[in-house]
Amino acid sequence: MDPYYVTTPIYYVNSTPHIGHAYTTVAADVFARHQRQRGRDTFLLTGVDEHASKVARVAEEQGLAPQEYADRIVEAWRALPARLGVAPDFFIRTSDEGHKRFVQEFLEKIRSNGRDDIYQGVYAGLYCVGCEAFKTEAELVDGKCPEHDVEPERIEERNWFFRLSAYQEQLLALYDERPDFVLPAFRANEARSFIAGGLQDFSISREGLSWGIPIPWDPAQVAYVWADALVNYLSALTYARPGEDLIPRYWPGVRHLLAKDILRFHCVYWPAMLLAAGYDVPRQLFVHGYLLLDDRKISKSRGNVVDPLELVDVYGADAVRFWCARSVSFGQDGTASVDGVKERYERELGNDLGNLLSRTTAMVARYRDGAVPQAPDAGSEVGAMLGPLGADIADRLDAFDLTGALERIWEVVRGLNRHVEATAPWQLAKDDAHAEELDRVLYDLVDGLRAVAVALAAYLPETTERILVALGQPVVLDWDEVAYGRARPASGVEPAPPLFPRVDEPTLAA
Ligand code: MSP
Repeated sequence: MDPYYVTTPIYYVNSTPHIGHAYTTVAADVFARHQRQRGRDTFLLTGVDEHASKVARVAEEQGLAPQEYADRIVEAWRALPARLGVAPDFFIRTSDEGHKRFVQEFLEKIRSNGRDDIYQGVYAGLYCVGCEAFKTEAELVDGKCPEHDVEPERIEERNWFFRLSAYQEQLLALYDERPDFVLPAFRANEARSFIAGGLQDFSISREGLSWGIPIPWDPAQVAYVWADALVNYLSALTYARPGEDLIPRYWPGVRHLLAKDILRFHCVYWPAMLLAAGYDVPRQLFVHGYLLLDDRKISKSRGNVVDPLELVDVYGADAVRFWCARSVSFGQDGTASVDGVKERYERELGNDLGNLLSRTTAMVARYRDGAVPQAPDAGSEVGAMLGPLGADIADRLDAFDLTGALERIWEVVRGLNRHVEATAPWQLAKDDAHAEELDRVLYDLVDGLRAVAVALAAYLPETTERILVALGQPVVLDWDEVAYGRARPASGVEPAPPLFPRVDEPTLAA
């Protein structure tokens, strides 16, 4: 299997981490953990984008040097993955020396590619600092950027331009040859029509700013924040492991995750920049929708930030991860509510999964003195349920179907609950004549839950471990464990405490 390199966008260091950022981060982590379970060489990258003009502005207001200010606020971003149970293989900062050096080399490569792809010109236009992008009149609503509700600034300056227009044909051919380059397909169509509509060259530098990466051949200018930020996906590989260049290992096997707001930068500008600099284009980009709350995009500029860490404090990382994956079909826009975290916690995690573990362990303890029975000889209903599970989940997660793969697991959770009701072990236990049947039912429940736990490891890493331990099973997460008949003989199984105890959460801000 080829190596699997997955990235989140690097988040603006000066914004406040919210549930929307948590969403992409969790998704990337689920994909990475899953591929690791399948034995694949995997690398997960996240980090922060520091050279936004706002950083310099706010730093100045606070009487700090921009770097000093960035060093302070970066901590909230380092905490985000950690609190969500996400362990990136590297956390990049665009102020890292390794990144700055690489960006300069990258821009030099484009400039010296012999096609005159970087040239000087004058840019006059409307610039939205929130988006860090130029806007056309047509994109404005009442003269304001609809995303940030502010009037863009009129800017006129001498900049270095990237000849994006020269890449139109190559990009169209790329989209035509590789139907899964951008997923979902409707996003590929969106990008393709944007390209087909004609590409404008864009400016890759800004004049008169001191906060940013100097353009190597014209240090009076700094790299435009996007020309700097996109390059992180490559630069990180050059210094994440000191003394080792990971580019040959992980590039171009990269999967970029992003939301639709930054589709053009990733699906159009970035592949063109890579082609111009002589690199392969990414293997795949997955564009997901917004996680909406009360029908509005969750963002600071709209004033309804929900701090994901606050939800983690109350419900735990696994419950927030579960909600992210389950409440909105990944790829689509969708509305979720903070109450939904509580509801899914109680109904699905607490009742469907938690009670199944409590009942199973209690029955093994009570009817078999804590010993998991031997595996039965013949196949069973649970065996049939588990048979296709591993392959089904893997197919879905290979296609970034974060929500569908979890639903597939949940079908089995519900199936196991039905199995308990249908076989009624408490009735079987009343008569020794049913001992063998009871053995089989108990084995099947333990084995079914064990397989489900392994399948859930990418989504609910902490919970998986607790389930396996409660069932007296080793914490072996290899993907071929998602199959029937792998439960090990075990003794000393005791009634497990609730996996998801009830919580009171009266004080969550909405
Ligand atoms: N710094 C740029 C990205 C540079 S990548 C080379 C940026 N940063 S950001 O802080 O605004 O984060 C954007 C990303 O955060 C989105 O693409 C998405 O992945 C995530 N999300 C932010 N708000 C979101 C929602 N409300 N819903 C889902 N994801 C969201 O843009």
